Amino acid sequence: MAFLTGEVTYSRGLEGVVAAITSIAAIDGEEGKLIYRGIPIELLAEKSNFEETAYLLWFGDLPKKDELENLKRDLVEHREIPQFLVDCLKGAPKDTHPMEILRTCVSMLGCFDPDKNDNSRGANIRKSIRLTAQMPTIVAYYSRLRRGLELVHPDPKLSHAQNLYYMLTGEVPNEEISKLMDVILILHMEHGMNASTFAAMVVASTLSDMHSSICAAIGALRGPLHGGANERVLEMLQEIGTVENVEPYILNALKEHRRIMGFGHRVYKAYDPRARILKEYAERLSREKGDTKWIEIAEKIEEVMIREKGKKGIFPNVDFYSGIIYNLLGFPKEVFTPIFAIARVVGWTAHVLEYLQANRIFRPRAIYNGPLDVEYIPIDKR
Ligand code: ACO
Repeated sequence: MAFLTGEVTYSRGLEGVVAAITSIAAIDGEEGKLIYRGIPIELLAEKSNFEETAYLLWFGDLPKKDELENLKRDLVEHREIPQFLVDCLKGAPKDTHPMEILRTCVSMLGCFDPDKNDNSRGANIRKSIRLTAQMPTIVAYYSRLRRGLELVHPDPKLSHAQNLYYMLTGEVPNEEISKLMDVILILHMEHGMNASTFAAMVVASTLSDMHSSICAAIGALRGPLHGGANERVLEMLQEIGTVENVEPYILNALKEHRRIMGFGHRVYKAYDPRARILKEYAERLSREKGDTKWIEIAEKIEEVMIREKGKKGIFPNVDFYSGIIYNLLGFPKEVFTPIFAIARVVGWTAHVLEYLQANRIFRPRAIYNGPLDVEYIPIDKR
């Protein structure tokens, strides 16, 4: 057996490496297509809602009426979080990013989970549903505490998407906003073997527990190269400030080899279908709210970026237009990535559940490029 020192296939960032078989979702990166369990994302965004799509991702088929009712009831029942966590949220430094709070609280929820010592499929399904129900409450409570506002408790009469909006803003959303919230959550729910899903699966593959997997996923999603990009997009729009500033800002950033947040993707070399849908909603909402400044800047950025980088397959991704929508809905920018996590927990848990059915521990290798045959020098001779 030799040390691995070269002459093997190596893929930086695991590009092109196939690490699992899945029936949950598929991406056609050349055509810009995404399907969940075979159904195009456009159809789900138009016709479905959070609960139904979550059922589809977890269990493989669209639910029948009673199955959907049962899932809705379970999700509503588990929305509240233990008082200990509420006290932790109150005691946490107010400058903590809600993604750190979410990661920490999910870990703590693992200690309170009634199935905490059970790693069976049944227990993991129950944990998936509970985590999905509890994560919006953590984010909304902390966001309101951070803003010095009273907590808004979950309302069992509201759907998952409506309740998230309600807990963040204190207002029950109208029909249009309710639909938009469902669309946002559906579009962010799942995306194959992305970095955060892979992180969750690596942890699960050691036969660790569901809460540990989701903590890992939240940590991975937070980074600006992944879900953290949506928050940075709004910061960039604010920094640019006017449509006239777009061209010089982007050209200068590209000259300095800086990344433009909300653009580019490892798999999509065409327009991200999720961004296309979100762009339409962002345009409509901007017109309705009479606040078109940010969408105009964003569309100019898109124009310049496609002109400069389109040939290289760099187009807007899901994070580019979502921030404009959240901003118009009155959400503070630090909850943009947590909202992503609130949706993506369904995809994370669905992949963990699927992978565990034919589990094998993830254990890649690395090429060693350090020295060989090095002598051990005693400490007084170094
Ligand atoms: N702005 C400018 N140039 C870019 C961008 C960008 N956003 N993205 C990629 N490029 C360029 C790179 O500089 C590189 O150019 P080169 O060949 O001249 O060196 C080329 O495109 C390929 O880039 P890679 O880094 O190899 O692409 P990779 O697949 O590793 O990265 C990633 C994908 C991380 C998403 C990248 O496009 C990026 O950093 N985008 C900005 C951050 C972002 O929006 N992340 C959210 C992605 S969607 C999601 O995770 C939910």
